[in-house]
Amino acid sequence: MRTPALRPGGGRCRIRPSAQADTGAGRNGVGISIGLVGLGAFGSEFAPLFKSHPLVDRVALCDREPERVKRFAQAPTFQEKVRPSDLYASLDEICAADLDALVIITQPWLHAPQAIRAMESGKRVYSAVPVIWLPDGEEVLEWCDKVTRASRRTGMSYMLGETTYYRPQAMYCRRKAREGAFGDFTYAEGEYFHPHDWPPADLRKVKKSREASAAGQEWLAIQAGYDARGIRQTPMTYPTHSTSGPMTVMRAHAVRAAAFGWKTRSTDPYFGDYRFTNVSALYRMSNGSQMRICEHRELAYPSGDLFEHETFRIFGTTGTFRENRWADKDRWETLTTAKMRDPLPPDVAEAFRRECGETGMYGGHGGSHAYLVHEFVDAVAHDRQPAINAWEAARYMAAGIAAERSALRDGETQDVADWGDAPS
Ligand SMILES: NC(=O)c1ccc[n+]([C@@H]2O[C@H](COP(=O)([O-])OP(=O)(O)OC[C@H]3O[C@@H](n4cnc5c(N)ncnc54)[C@H](O)[C@@H]3O)[C@@H](O)[C@H]2O)c1
Repeated sequence: MRTPALRPGGGRCRIRPSAQADTGAGRNGVGISIGLVGLGAFGSEFAPLFKSHPLVDRVALCDREPERVKRFAQAPTFQEKVRPSDLYASLDEICAADLDALVIITQPWLHAPQAIRAMESGKRVYSAVPVIWLPDGEEVLEWCDKVTRASRRTGMSYMLGETTYYRPQAMYCRRKAREGAFGDFTYAEGEYFHPHDWPPADLRKVKKSREASAAGQEWLAIQAGYDARGIRQTPMTYPTHSTSGPMTVMRAHAVRAAAFGWKTRSTDPYFGDYRFTNVSALYRMSNGSQMRICEHRELAYPSGDLFEHETFRIFGTTGTFRENRWADKDRWETLTTAKMRDPLPPDVAEAFRRECGETGMYGGHGGSHAYLVHEFVDAVAHDRQPAINAWEAARYMAAGIAAERSALRDGETQDVADWGDAPS
């Protein structure tokens, strides 16, 4: 098994067993109230970070599964910011509460309608990725349209919690791009190689775990409807881990797409849901460059490799970034995680460290969780569009759907849908 030279990121942030003095509440008098909707596997990793952010004064908890709410409501570290009256069993109930924002980390087929419902109730919204996952890419595109419209109509901001956006590599490359160090961008690659049976996140087990709740069970009937209509997924309906890296660094979006798919030869019933298990796409970008994107679910990959299965490379006329290395015309420089990362504000870093410990303070997925939480909380507190707003998020999604369309038509080139830049 190959061990990567660098494994950026850190451990997960877990709920702490005992209370310590929380000195962080309310910074500069602009503290906000936030509701956490969905306290399953992934939501549980974010709850301690949202709770401990110094700009968050009050936290409400919501899940349809009462024991998932209880776990946090009873945690000593949550007592200071969670009121007994702020425990909710449904999205409708929490939407009626007087909160500034909702963090939606529910199952992926629920995100977009729930985000719209929350914005319509006057809440800013953070949504786990993707904007929505459904087997039908055309429907996914319709929801992107609805989410951008709802954000504009209600004046409520929307942020997609795309982890690649805050991987250290993305932060570093954005800085280099701002300096102009890449020169003209010529070509970029983004890829998400996630073997379905990859031990760190076995997709079969993930599926089972997401179905092990009332909301999960409801999906089975909906899935049966897609099956009856012969609609089967491709991995391009959830493309944000691969498309976001090149797009955020180059500040460019996909314009035309051509893609091909790999049709499984496996008789494994798990793949029965898939039209293609792997799709590879090539794009013309709005800055004139090309971007190659892979979303692959059927491949061999070592279980210890937590970085290179989800990565990007960027090439320019004067600078190149790949595999944690920066190159100009003269030399390569190997970069450490600390060098690539942006600093967090000191009080935020200190609050996360106190809550999650030194190794857990940045959270999972390359240590991106801490930055996602900070960006959303800060955007809500200062009433601004977050970095990964509805319009940016729609671009990450639309690139995938255009690739799916092309792959289903044997590589015929397709226009990529676009809703433009976020209104300022
Ligand atoms: N790299 C990444 O960004 C990344 C990684 C893992 C998961 N995710 C995303 O996180 C999301 C959650 O995944 P998970 O594994 O935690 O799922 P999960 O099934 O463990 O948790 C979802 C929770 O949402 C709750 N829920 C559903 N509808 C609700 C409602 N109307 N009101 C209140 N609660 C409701 C469920 O009861 C459940 O507890 C997924 O959409 C997934 O795409 C993203």
